[in-house]
Amino acid sequence: MAGRIPRDFIDTLLTRVDIVDVVNTRVPLKKTGRDFQARCPFHDEKTPSFTVSREKQFYHCFGCGAHGSAIGFLMEYDHMGFVEAVEDLASLAGIEVPRDEGAPSGPDLTPLYGLLEQAKAFYQQQLRSHPQADRPVAYLKDRGLSGEIAADFGLGFAPPGWDNLLRRLGGEKDRLNLLLQAGLLSEREGRYYDRFRERIMFPIRDHRGRSIAFGGRVLGDATPKYLNSPETGVFHKGRELYGLYEARQSLRELNRLVVVEGYMDVIALAQFGIRYAVATLGTATTPEHVERLFRATPEIIFCFDGDRAGRDAAWKAMNTTLPHLREGREARFLFLPEGEDPDTLIRAQGTQAFESALDGSTPLSQFLFDKLSAKVDVGSLDGRARLVELARPYIDKLPRGIFREMMLNRLAELAEIDAAKLSKPAASPPPHVRAAVRSRADRTHMSPVRTAVALLLQHPSLANRYQEGNPPWQHLDTPGIPLLSQLLELIRKRPNLKQGPLLEHWRGTAEEPHLYKLINMELPIPESGIETEFLDALQRLNEQYRKQEASKLLAKTRDRTLTAEEKQHLQRLLTSPAQDGKNGT
Ligand code: UTP
Ligand code: MN
Repeated sequence: MAGRIPRDFIDTLLTRVDIVDVVNTRVPLKKTGRDFQARCPFHDEKTPSFTVSREKQFYHCFGCGAHGSAIGFLMEYDHMGFVEAVEDLASLAGIEVPRDEGAPSGPDLTPLYGLLEQAKAFYQQQLRSHPQADRPVAYLKDRGLSGEIAADFGLGFAPPGWDNLLRRLGGEKDRLNLLLQAGLLSEREGRYYDRFRERIMFPIRDHRGRSIAFGGRVLGDATPKYLNSPETGVFHKGRELYGLYEARQSLRELNRLVVVEGYMDVIALAQFGIRYAVATLGTATTPEHVERLFRATPEIIFCFDGDRAGRDAAWKAMNTTLPHLREGREARFLFLPEGEDPDTLIRAQGTQAFESALDGSTPLSQFLFDKLSAKVDVGSLDGRARLVELARPYIDKLPRGIFREMMLNRLAELAEIDAAKLSKPAASPPPHVRAAVRSRADRTHMSPVRTAVALLLQHPSLANRYQEGNPPWQHLDTPGIPLLSQLLELIRKRPNLKQGPLLEHWRGTAEEPHLYKLINMELPIPESGIETEFLDALQRLNEQYRKQEASKLLAKTRDRTLTAEEKQHLQRLLTSPAQDGKNGT
């Protein structure tokens, strides 16, 4: 698995599989007209707004905005990585995934994964058979853990001594290097020794269940209490969540996930039947964490200490979560009593009490508004105006959609103002300016570039109506022009690509969401007028370019004389009509 997957292969692969089959085996689809429909698997809904198009080879939900190709669907629905999704589709199509040897995607990590697995097995075996294993076993029992839970989480024991692992797994220089890369050794004055000694070992597993790092807890009161693997080629703690793999293994469907602080919290909750807890690894919640969590579940409950530090951490987690809250996703907060953690609490109060605490946890919106309201006097007009001001930056972080609307409505309620007022910019310009702004907005709404891109996305065959060359509009200095050029070029190069596969080329870019918006936009153009409209848009772009150039040259004439060549160019620009887009030169 050394090389990168060639782009061409992905294009080909997506012409070999049918997204309708891929989706239908997971979410049964019903044919409605040209498309297929179902209730959206990515958010809760009563009437189906999830649509799969065979013709365009993509899916799109009009409710929550989820969209993508067959690859994207597997990534979202089956929580696969990109490469994994490609491999899955390839095996479905019965073709081999080639690797581009010329452009390796990075070092081959297979030996590292292999070694980490061996280390995990070694620690597990030591917990069973080391002469001093009675101590860790007694410790775990004392904390109320069963053998079954210890096995589910792969718990182990790093025995006392400086070189147990080193002697077992070390050897030639290569092996030593690998142990170092895996973060399993420490070095002092040129000598290597085991990083984890006399500790209970918690393997940290990635989404595929591979051990990628460890946490190690002392048996007594020594410090540090927990020692973690350093960041390595396979372990990035800002991305991983302890217990997520185990939660997925034991539950078919994750209706919610609880985010706690510690390894032992995750395990104690599992022991008490709450198999859906995960922990960040000694770091604050990152955007990657949040996205990963929401790909696994619609509801996240952050569990924090009730103290000052816990509240601060919760506030940070809320900020990180806001941009990820599209429809169908929910975040809540549970604050624990002083001095308790989930582990102590569930032991003291039991599963039911803990689950009802989770049920009664604070919704994100309430947490936000309570905290902001506490800063102002909502009894006064000034205070309520200030509340609106304070809340706006947070609401602005929310993606457009129903949840954001609801937050605005709630804010309006609290501020005792008309909700419609909140949707407008804070300082509204006088009416005549507003009218001008609006009419410009209406036009840019369907600027020629947007029109051309939308038409091209909806009717890729238009690209063939338009011959290659170097049309004037390509030099136009306007956003969207490079995109239009790239799109035209790609469609010409790969005329058989349907829209879903086409948009795979923009995966993860800033343009991707806009492209999906344009592809689904209803254009008030009759079938017969499409080509004319497209060519007209290009024509208008050529015209824009002509004006842009002319005004640049005219500005120059004011400062200094133009060269003979520039003069000629200006002459041409001012006299000749814009070139016909169809000829493209
Ligand atoms: P806590 O100190 O709250 O420990 O650390 P805990 O989870 O309650 O542990 P027990 O119950 O005494 O076994 C919470 C988390 O912070 C990180 C670990 O990830 C731990 O699970 N931590 C804590 C460290 O990385 N190093 C430390 O020394 C302490
Ligand atoms: Mn604890």
